[in-house]
Amino acid sequence: MLPFSRSNWLGSRGRPGFGVSLWVLSFCWCFPAVGGQNYHPTVNTQYGKLRGVRVPLPSEILGPVDQYLGVPYAASPVGEKRFMPPEPPSSWSGIKNATHFAPVCPQNIHNAVPEIMMPIWFTFNLDIVTTYIQDQHEDCLYLNIYVPTEDDIRDTGAKPVMVYIHGGSYMEGTGNMIDGSVLASYGNVIVITLNYRVGVLGFLSTGDQAAKGNYGLLDQIQALRWISENIGFFGGDSNRITVFGSGIGASCVSLLTLSHHSEGLFHRAIIQSGSALSSWAVNYQPVKYTRLLAEKVGCNVLDTLDMVDCLRKKSSRELVEQDIQPARYHVAFGPVIDGDVIPDDPEILMEQGEFLNYDIMLGVNQGEGLRFVENVVDSEDGVSGNDFDFSVSDFVDSLYGYPEGKDTLRETIKFMYTDWADRDNPETRRKTLVALFTDHQWVEPSVVTADLHARYGSPTYFYAFYHHCQKRHCLSVSVSVLIGASIICNPLSFWIGFKFLSRHTRVSFIHG
Ligand SMILES: *[C@@H]1O[C@H](CO)[C@@H](O)[C@H](O)[C@H]1NC(C)=O
Repeated sequence: MLPFSRSNWLGSRGRPGFGVSLWVLSFCWCFPAVGGQNYHPTVNTQYGKLRGVRVPLPSEILGPVDQYLGVPYAASPVGEKRFMPPEPPSSWSGIKNATHFAPVCPQNIHNAVPEIMMPIWFTFNLDIVTTYIQDQHEDCLYLNIYVPTEDDIRDTGAKPVMVYIHGGSYMEGTGNMIDGSVLASYGNVIVITLNYRVGVLGFLSTGDQAAKGNYGLLDQIQALRWISENIGFFGGDSNRITVFGSGIGASCVSLLTLSHHSEGLFHRAIIQSGSALSSWAVNYQPVKYTRLLAEKVGCNVLDTLDMVDCLRKKSSRELVEQDIQPARYHVAFGPVIDGDVIPDDPEILMEQGEFLNYDIMLGVNQGEGLRFVENVVDSEDGVSGNDFDFSVSDFVDSLYGYPEGKDTLRETIKFMYTDWADRDNPETRRKTLVALFTDHQWVEPSVVTADLHARYGSPTYFYAFYHHCQKRHCLSVSVSVLIGASIICNPLSFWIGFKFLSRHTRVSFIHG
């Protein structure tokens, strides 16, 4: 069901994304350390030596994985370096222990978005999430490396590398939460997760030279640069680097494919449940939210240089704890079109074929829009005619700023998303409403991205994942299975996560 031509959306794309937290997470299986008997591999890097830890996996068919956790890929972005592009890390002498996670970037999950806007499996597991993000520090630009130890007889050369970009509405999240061990071991690939600056500290922009924004994206690019230059030391192939992410992570990956700053740093991209064309991918009103923040913390808003100077002097806690709510379907702090990292509107870039030469795979899951329906209406017994009308109106009003044509748009949507053969059935109405949100927020942006990418000659793959979880099952299990904005289940994580690890709760990840 895609009743709209691209041009409709063009005029209407209400720009900013939405306030929904597109959380990506799954839980780390915390493998018990075998008391003191651990083998500690040591590797060299351009910056110094690292000492990791070899971790066995609880499955007979999965070989152990060498983990290097909390590896610095950039200098600490504090003081004068706040609101600035990342710089390379400094070298160290001796051997640095890379056996524990580094702090996560400052964030405030309790205030970030209204609880109702977060996925249920997120709010249900807030305590677990909280343990992962408890240790916060502005000095947070670290990555984690998971290296398989048993060579696949079919592939004994340098190993391909998969770099995971976490999601989380650009306001929260950490790579630490994703345990790359199983994917590394099963796939014989090196898996890397990373932290990048989020929220105010990652994306504040004054729309001019005072604070250009996009630090979080530049962090990802710096991490890719570090990986390119150093992964050879770990047995990785710097000519086979795949970047992947879902939800907001997918928007990031999609934006990376459009930025010349990342040229040559990766070769393939997997974009799951999101795209740079999603309405929440880019912040089109950064100055508005930056001013709001500055006012709240008592900084001068008239002169941007003054303002940024003042904001640099505030504690990171004070900044991330300000409650600044984006408008519905909008993001308050996220990537901006700065004419440099993101040279132009992603839609224009794509239409002009400004993709770098990457192979890409995109995909969507069935029923991703479910969360929106559950947030808008109490849909236990289906959706009533009134609730349906309300949801469609609210959707149009929130996303489409212009008053003329709104009625027509509303009526067109209602017409297209009514199952005329079964029009009085509340359950059917619920399904078509889910389809509306799924189509608008996920399917259409992904299909258009794939289509434009394919048109300019690079290999493009597309998947649609259908797996119907039992709801209850989903709550406990798909936490580990769910990838990003996915409401249902992710294929890879599903297969790998389930097939080999039978303990469901707190099992984790895969690809997620
Ligand atoms: C690294 O950890 C080992 C074992 O815990 C310890 O003996 C060593 O002093 C640590 N090295 C550094 C540089 O902290």
